[in-house]
Amino acid sequence: MEKTIGFLGAGNMAGAIIRGILQANVCRPDQVWAAAPTMTHLSSLQQEYGIHVTEDNLQVAQQSDILILAVKPHLIQGVISQVKDGIRDDAVVVSVAAGVSLAQMDEWFDRPVHLARVMPNTPCMVREGMSAVFPGRWITPEQTQEVRELFAALGQSEVLEEHLIDAVGAVSGSSPAFVYVFIEAMADAAVKGGMPRAQAYRFASQAVLGAAKMVRETGIHPGTLKDMVCSPGGTTIEGIEQLEQKGLRGAVFAAMDACMEKSRQMGKKK
Ligand SMILES: NC(=O)c1ccc[n+]([C@@H]2O[C@H](COP(=O)([O-])OP(=O)(O)OC[C@H]3O[C@@H](n4cnc5c(N)ncnc54)[C@H](OP(=O)(O)O)[C@@H]3O)[C@@H](O)[C@H]2O)c1
Repeated sequence: MEKTIGFLGAGNMAGAIIRGILQANVCRPDQVWAAAPTMTHLSSLQQEYGIHVTEDNLQVAQQSDILILAVKPHLIQGVISQVKDGIRDDAVVVSVAAGVSLAQMDEWFDRPVHLARVMPNTPCMVREGMSAVFPGRWITPEQTQEVRELFAALGQSEVLEEHLIDAVGAVSGSSPAFVYVFIEAMADAAVKGGMPRAQAYRFASQAVLGAAKMVRETGIHPGTLKDMVCSPGGTTIEGIEQLEQKGLRGAVFAAMDACMEKSRQMGKKK
């Protein structure tokens, strides 16, 4: 990609995206600019990746073909008002701020901007993220694809409509936390069975990674994959019976519902 990619904000999310796009050779370090109010994060990004850094948001906004807003949600309005008149007419603007809607940002820009909202998740840090791309009113389908391809460098990415934001938040944003609880519980049980703890985490996490890959790569229904592990009268079906009796499916449904409801309430408050 022969474009200048600018970041306003240089924290966890900006760092994860910069690492991903450079590792995937989406662009060269000299095409990447980042701005933040202090050099705290900027200097380590510069040292680690050789990108350009500055404390001047406007300078980055003015020269970016793709401008990524990666500040905390409560700062988005201020940052937009600071840079909106400097953004080029043909630039694509991407916000990763959780809970800030496209309509809200359109109002703050107060001019047609090729805007997309993206919800990445924390596994983007190891390039196994899942990012949802929500196109705004003025962005073209080609520009939306460009944004999708950029985030594909951090794992997987798909284009969705913004009304699915609450479901996305639950199924890819929050769900890694549920999976960590599951991994921790399995490892605890393996420790009870005599396995050293570090080894238990390796076995449990690799089993989850492998099972996830089986779902993705074989295309076989998860229920069928489960059936394939359960030999008649065997050990696994004993465990499945316990999961059903203890209500694992119901607990997962309730957890996802709670996430979606909270996300709806937080969206209404804004
Ligand atoms: N972390 C995640 O897993 C995750 C997942 C999905 C979405 N997000 C979204 O990503 C955004 C950033 O989150 P984060 O976790 O990366 O936050 P973070 O680590 O706290 O980083 C925030 C960055 O913003 C900079 N900043 C503060 N005020 C600024 C301003 N006025 N102009 C430009 N930069 C400014 C900070 O500067 P200093 O370096 O000077 O402190 C810092 O570099 C949030 O909106 C969040 O909702 C994060």
